[in-house]
Amino acid sequence: MPAASPWKDAVEAERAGLVALRQHFHAHPELSFEEHETSKRVARELEPLKALGLQVRTGWAKGTGIVAVLRGTAPGADSKEARTVALRGDMDALPVTEETGLPYASTVPGKMHACGHDGHTTMLLGAAKVLCKHRDRLKGSVVFCFQPAEESGGGGRFMVDEGALDDPKVGAAFALHGFPSHRLGTVAVKPGESQAASDSFQVTVHGMGGHGAAPHNTIDPIVVAARIIEALQSVVSREVNPIESAVVTIGKINGGFARNVIPPKVEMEGTIRSLKEAIRRRVHEAVKRTVTGIAASAGARAEIHVNDGYPVVYNDPVASAFVLDTARHAFGADRAVELPVPSMGGEDFAFFLQKVPGAMIRLGVATGENYPGLHHPKYNFPDEALPVGVEVFCRIAERYLSEGFPGAQPKR
Ligand code: NI
Repeated sequence: MPAASPWKDAVEAERAGLVALRQHFHAHPELSFEEHETSKRVARELEPLKALGLQVRTGWAKGTGIVAVLRGTAPGADSKEARTVALRGDMDALPVTEETGLPYASTVPGKMHACGHDGHTTMLLGAAKVLCKHRDRLKGSVVFCFQPAEESGGGGRFMVDEGALDDPKVGAAFALHGFPSHRLGTVAVKPGESQAASDSFQVTVHGMGGHGAAPHNTIDPIVVAARIIEALQSVVSREVNPIESAVVTIGKINGGFARNVIPPKVEMEGTIRSLKEAIRRRVHEAVKRTVTGIAASAGARAEIHVNDGYPVVYNDPVASAFVLDTARHAFGADRAVELPVPSMGGEDFAFFLQKVPGAMIRLGVATGENYPGLHHPKYNFPDEALPVGVEVFCRIAERYLSEGFPGAQPKR
């Protein structure tokens, strides 16, 4: 049976206000690093909490990030051993045209909260509101990180590099992401590798253009590009241990102007996903070698740039067990789900988890069958999930600050 707790009532008292806020954010989406109005609204919501002890620092990560710090007042909160926990919410939207038909649908053509970051921002605000009013239950400090540019640009890296986890010194960090693959109210965690490193690459095949009827006088970059694409399919199958996982995808190809002209060059772009650093480096090298080697074999020349994107999201096993145990106590065993396999999607909360132990938590949001997927033009973060997420944040904060990770020391 879920344990009784003051958090449910405290969260319930904020519910109506949070629903209105979430719908406001949904109607006013802003892309990565452009979250100016969102950031202003977050700051406005935090303003009255200053009277309850919240310190608000604006201007992070190129300007739109906000870090707010709450020092608890429970006995021991001011001791040297007191812990600090970071909670993170991402704020940016996607360049997607909304098709939900909702009364609060996006008012900005071509932009949409299709990944539910409107919900994530709102849940973090909800946690700030509730925890400020229950400061006396916190035996340490909470750092609320409102982060820009998760979708594109790695706002998480800026937050961490600028010291969001340094003052006060954070001991553990947690984030929530709504997932329509899980039913509403589920709290799911994949211990260990949870989401993939997400890297990009660009290839330019330089050949020699000419008449389509005289290929012998050219070096045809289209044929070379075709061979490269074919050969890249063997990188994962022949160079990665079959027990491990990786993906190499070419998602964009551009070359040529007419049916009877061999062009001078072809450009391609792709993504590389992996779950372990050693595999990541090996795939990068294999892709580079394959691209340049195939081009050279045809007398062409290929330029390739492989760029590190977001690292692997590594959920500390002890922190993961802590989250699942906390969720079991709060909501019952059937709503705490340990996931057996990671996803190959990327997530820049990875930068936080490179620095401190913690977990990326998947919050179930599916209110019915065939709920639209993330990034879909009909996706809408359901308001019913807001109180669940706020309660998860509050309970994690209270318990971590009181007990740390009970029964084991966090690694790393
Ligand atoms: Ni997202």
